[in-house]
Amino acid sequence: MKKTDDQILVIFGASGDLTQRKLIPAIFNLFISGLLPEKYAVIGVGRTDYDDESYRQQSVFGNPHFPKKISSKQLESFAKLLYYQSMDTKKLSDFKLLKKKVDAPDGLQKRPKNCIFYLSTPPSLYEAISSGLANVGLNHDQTGWRRIIIEKPFGYDLDSAKKLNAHVLSHFDEDQVYRIDHYLGKETVQNMFVTRFANSIFEPLWNRNFIHRVEITASESVGIEKRGGYYESAGALRDMVQNHLFQLVALVAMEPPVKADAESIRNEKLKVFQSLRPYTNSEIKSHVIRGQYLGSKIRNEQILGYRDEDGVAKNSKAETYVAMKFFIDNWRWAGVPFYIRTGKRMPTRVTEVVIHFKPNHHHLFASDPNLSNQQNVLVLRIQPNEGILLKFTMKIPGAGYNTDQVNMDFHYDELSNVYVPEAYERLILDCMQGDATLYARGDSTEAAWEFIDPILKAWEKDKSIPIYGYPAGTWGPEHSDNLIDGKNMKWRYPCSNLTNDGNYCEL
Ligand code: BG6
Repeated sequence: MKKTDDQILVIFGASGDLTQRKLIPAIFNLFISGLLPEKYAVIGVGRTDYDDESYRQQSVFGNPHFPKKISSKQLESFAKLLYYQSMDTKKLSDFKLLKKKVDAPDGLQKRPKNCIFYLSTPPSLYEAISSGLANVGLNHDQTGWRRIIIEKPFGYDLDSAKKLNAHVLSHFDEDQVYRIDHYLGKETVQNMFVTRFANSIFEPLWNRNFIHRVEITASESVGIEKRGGYYESAGALRDMVQNHLFQLVALVAMEPPVKADAESIRNEKLKVFQSLRPYTNSEIKSHVIRGQYLGSKIRNEQILGYRDEDGVAKNSKAETYVAMKFFIDNWRWAGVPFYIRTGKRMPTRVTEVVIHFKPNHHHLFASDPNLSNQQNVLVLRIQPNEGILLKFTMKIPGAGYNTDQVNMDFHYDELSNVYVPEAYERLILDCMQGDATLYARGDSTEAAWEFIDPILKAWEKDKSIPIYGYPAGTWGPEHSDNLIDGKNMKWRYPCSNLTNDGNYCEL
């Protein structure tokens, strides 16, 4: 196990939703698992006027996102690690208050010299915070190391991402900067890397000679919840595709790295983004389908349409669904289409990567009408019902050679006794230990924006590009079905249960 230095974690946006829902509970889990160093403190920073005690009350004792059945003794010991500094991050002078607190968190005998700054605020504050930290010298690794974690979205488009990168890198070195994408912290996402590079049976087939197409779905059954304000200026392309889905694409498509370390892996991912074939203007219209959910009734419950949600304009063009087809122009993937889609208010919450292998070159059993379309399919299920499924063809017992597809599957929940950490738990621990492998590097963030930016620009400028409505609770606009070309080829319609696909399933 790697060593974890004594350290302080400063969280900007300390009473925000992400901090309360994910960050503090993740740190608590690290505490329970004995993974925090001997000397450790969390300093919450925000404008709300808490003191240490009231912040502990709000973030620990009164936090509904804590695991149930925790003894009050454990909560009390954990709460003692939390401190609070009220300040206005837009005021440079307030950073002196923070410096004082970091230098001597009350109650901590000998203060740890190392420090992580976690920016869990609206992105509009990222530049001000990094300048503020630099202004009081909190960016320098002098007595101990300093790291900065920046939440997504990293940039609003290519220009703003470049500007933000340049700004942050004017105060911190790249190896101090941790751009978080919580998908990379998911166990199942990390397992894609292992599946590919630890099993000799897959890698020889993992290329244009054997793979017909790659399909990635990240569907959500929830709507935009209470995030109308944010979502109006984001939309699904910025919210899910540029970061989470592209990270999945990179893991599927990357070349084997020289070593399993941050530099080697991130070098290979960058090359994938650099190889994305840019769309022509007409391809943006035909290869990228955007949609917005409409009101509908699901199980007798009336679901609001996107434009009726709080904080959403009545004529909003923000997309809650995107499906796209694209190509990766390199040796391995020449000619193999990648299809990805994501959407809110879809029938079920599923994230999965589906590798469709090419059909047999010669149909020995062609008398079976089912067979001509049967292809081996490998499903890497990210969530829920996490696991891996391989579909292959076998003989139906009895006379002749009738065939059918069957499932070979592995489910994570079969690994009883194995604790599967939450994404944020893993990512925070990695940063504590100085491992940036599961964080995005600046150059690859920009390379991903480079591909996405022309789509955003075209949507802004060309009013003739439609945004299709789809009833809440469906698989998005039917136009996205036309993206997939090929006889009888269609999107997989996954169920929440990995192996139930193709049959009736409870969504
Ligand atoms: C976030 C997006 O980054 O990811 C949300 O902002 C989305 O809109 C969420 O709901 C999905 O994450 P997960 O882990 O639930 O798939």
